[in-house]
Amino acid sequence: MMHLSSVSPLVSLLHLTFLFFAPVAVETTVRGCVDGRDKDHRPLINCTSAGYRDVPSGIEPTTKVLLFPQNQFSHPSWTSFTVFTEIHEIDLSRNQIPSLTHSDAPILPSLAVLRLGFNQLRALPDHCFSRSPALTELYLQNNLISSLQDQSFSGLSKLEILDLSNNHVQTLPPRMMHPLKAIETLYLEGNKIKVLPDNWFSQKNEVPYLYLSANPWACSCSLGYLRMYLEEYDYNVYVKDGPIISADAESVYDSL
Ligand SMILES: *[C@@H]1O[C@H](CO)[C@@H](O)[C@H](O)[C@H]1NC(C)=O
Repeated sequence: MMHLSSVSPLVSLLHLTFLFFAPVAVETTVRGCVDGRDKDHRPLINCTSAGYRDVPSGIEPTTKVLLFPQNQFSHPSWTSFTVFTEIHEIDLSRNQIPSLTHSDAPILPSLAVLRLGFNQLRALPDHCFSRSPALTELYLQNNLISSLQDQSFSGLSKLEILDLSNNHVQTLPPRMMHPLKAIETLYLEGNKIKVLPDNWFSQKNEVPYLYLSANPWACSCSLGYLRMYLEEYDYNVYVKDGPIISADAESVYDSL
């Protein structure tokens, strides 16, 4: 007869060893997706390049981070995100989203990070993010955005990072920054902006990280506010070269 008592410690040890060395990312039952944790230990599902057009079924409703970069989303149904009642981050970068229709969308009260870079967005209508009032980071770089409105970012009083780099923006609406009372980092480089409207930063004068390079800033008296602003806050102006970020107020004048 076998003495189980002499075997079980070894079994437990093997079991423990497996637990300790189990890979962090685990295949899920959702095709093409992998489970994991983000850097702050939030449960995430990573469906990078999995070919989805909308949120697939079978994802745990307690998931807080949904990663769908390089999928086929074109008209995502925001309603399909409401089952994730504690959602923190949605990554829909590198999809084919042409427009945002938030008017009939449900509220996503906990969403803090939304990544929509490298899509085909052309315009940001008034109030299009107002149903995600907890957003702190909004990434819209490398779209085709040419049309911005005074109320494009209405309701985003907690937003700290706004990335509009590498779009086709020509004109900055005079009151666009007014709702952004917490803005810390603003990326506007790589657009077609000629004029910074008078008192554009009046609601929160100091934006600690400001990226303005690679725009055709017009050399005329309408540049008055930009010049005045830069004289006071030149130490907040940065340029980004890939991952390298450096303080460089001259970057703005390069194109003057
Ligand atoms: C998600 O998966 C992709 C490809 O499988 C990988 O490159 C990326 O680093 C993953 N992201 C996270 C946050 O785990």
